[in-house]
Amino acid sequence: MQLNNAHVLVTGANRGLGKALVEQLLEAGASRVYAAARDLQQVNATDPRILPVCLDVTDPASVAALAASIERLDLVINNAGVIAFGDILQVSEESLDHCLDVNLKGLWRVARAFVPHLERSGQGALCNVLTVLSLASMPGLSAYNLSKAAAWSAHLSLRASLQGKNIAVQAAFPSAIDTDMIADVPIEKDTPELVASNIIRGIGSGEEDIFPMPMAQAVYDQWRVDHKAVERQFASM
Ligand SMILES: NC(=O)c1ccc[n+]([C@@H]2O[C@H](COP(=O)([O-])OP(=O)(O)OC[C@H]3O[C@@H](n4cnc5c(N)ncnc54)[C@H](OP(=O)(O)O)[C@@H]3O)[C@@H](O)[C@H]2O)c1
Repeated sequence: MQLNNAHVLVTGANRGLGKALVEQLLEAGASRVYAAARDLQQVNATDPRILPVCLDVTDPASVAALAASIERLDLVINNAGVIAFGDILQVSEESLDHCLDVNLKGLWRVARAFVPHLERSGQGALCNVLTVLSLASMPGLSAYNLSKAAAWSAHLSLRASLQGKNIAVQAAFPSAIDTDMIADVPIEKDTPELVASNIIRGIGSGEEDIFPMPMAQAVYDQWRVDHKAVERQFASM
């Protein structure tokens, strides 16, 4: 898609990857970026092209109100997400519900609400931020894994459903990023700026599946050859 002069919505735009995506979209020439957050005060609107907007992806009324307030939109980036730690046999039902509500149903609510805008655009794109853990589970992140695997399935259904409507349905599959989400996890991480820049480049060049860092690409390359090897490797972490 053409990012120059595009009007874009980014969810979870107040921190982490979402904040970096907003900055990279401006670099790429977007003329309006709706930076969606639950708390508007937390959005760093340093550029007049950034418009902070209120959105809680778990609240259907909040999603509907935002959709009604925006006229033109060319790109939606479904970035908002939450994590929960814990093995599948120990994780609480509340954690499971919350991960599903934000990571799966939030993505679905936002996609559904904004498809009409993307159809009107004529060059619309929807990018869903998933994770390499959509492909294979890491046992200590069971609720997160299953919500992101389900989100990948929803994403594939969206792509099939939107076929012929001139809307690119794209997904980003990052590996570990240095944000609040995994601040306490001692593993090698890439910066949100690098990941955001590669996601925006992938969106611009029309890639369906974006692996925005070398580690994510390596996981995907191995998964394509031997998905059982990736399953075993993740299970041992
Ligand atoms: N960090 C990683 O290693 C990693 C790896 C792969 C994929 N990802 C994915 O990348 C995306 C961004 O994650 P991140 O690392 O930037 O996480 P983060 O720093 O924890 O930021 C999460 C963002 O999502 C927002 N959010 C949470 N619940 C929301 C809700 N109900 N409605 C609207 N916004 C909500 C948060 O807003 P508040 O400030 O209001 O909570 C925040 O802006 C997520 O989808 C995540 O799964 C992250």
